[in-house]
Amino acid sequence: MERHLHRDGYTVPSALVYPWQWLWDSAFHAIAWNALDRPDRALVELDTLLGCQRRDGFVPHIRYHGPSPHADFWKLPDTSAITQPPMYGHAIARLHRAGVDIPTGLLERARQGFDFLLRHRARVDGLVSVVHPWETGADNSPRWDHWVDGHFSLDRWWVVKGELVRSIMPSDAGAPISNSAFACAPAGFNALVAFNALELAWVTDDEHLQRDALEIVDRLDVSWSAEAGTWVDVGDSGHGSGRVRTLDALLPLLVSRRPVAVRSAIDQLLDPCAFAATYGPTGVHRAEEVFRPDQYWRGSAWPQLTYLLWWAARNRGEARLEESLRTSARRGAARSRMAEHWHPDDGTGLGAVPQSWSALVVAMA
Ligand code: GLC
Repeated sequence: MERHLHRDGYTVPSALVYPWQWLWDSAFHAIAWNALDRPDRALVELDTLLGCQRRDGFVPHIRYHGPSPHADFWKLPDTSAITQPPMYGHAIARLHRAGVDIPTGLLERARQGFDFLLRHRARVDGLVSVVHPWETGADNSPRWDHWVDGHFSLDRWWVVKGELVRSIMPSDAGAPISNSAFACAPAGFNALVAFNALELAWVTDDEHLQRDALEIVDRLDVSWSAEAGTWVDVGDSGHGSGRVRTLDALLPLLVSRRPVAVRSAIDQLLDPCAFAATYGPTGVHRAEEVFRPDQYWRGSAWPQLTYLLWWAARNRGEARLEESLRTSARRGAARSRMAEHWHPDDGTGLGAVPQSWSALVVAMA
């Protein structure tokens, strides 16, 4: 974490692979800094993250802190033109629980972030849409295979991902609102919107925000499919790849009010034939044809997802799951040398090594 600290006060995910500031990464870094007894750094992390917020509340997913090398791609000078899960809600709540005084300005900017997502962003059947798969943080997930006609390859996906950026529809103020070529409201993303909104609403005692978040929770629970064994994405992929059993699609465990769905998700996370693994959980259910434990977003273990599911288990009093996620994450971080993600069965480091968000394991105690 010290080595990844930028002179402007934020932490880069990786000095070589990801040398800028990313939205959900930064919120996870804030949680890690706080666990490392540096709440001052946690606050600067969140302050710099929300420092690039637009007037309508939109928070870009990358802040370049200087001229962007991708300005032509995004058509913006110093940020990206899409967002990512609003993890700042939970980060603020974790700091608050630890007794850290949160500046009012930060709370207000976080609230505006939810205003954008809940009031301006297009909905699909009542759920919040994403305008691009990158907005979920789960870049190459099999949940997006609908957009490559079920035939995923890195080359093909690279082209399609680029094309999908070009069809994003901005508001008059320039914020991304919808994408007719990607009509999708993913279960995992909506779970994170609702969870983070509830966390912030709890800190600020905001009944309106709480009510809006609970509406999403209830709508999300309608999309639980007992047959598929997962929460299903709403939109174009709903009858196809939006039903693949990915780990991020179990994130509604953070907020769900549907006991059968909660029980099934917990059982799958504990089952070694489903998601459970020594360094796991796996990013995709083992029985899925597309499961590839060593491939980016197609089956490997991700520390930030494990952290979130650990938080859900802890809050639901599911001690066995809590312990299994905590120990497997710690083993994985150690064996992979704090990698971006790793092989769930042997701990081999994948992607960037080291990557800052693996420090989340210090916040799982
Ligand atoms: C990759 C991940 C994304 C993350 C970024 C920076 O693009 O898929 O979730 O935010 O790297 O770590």
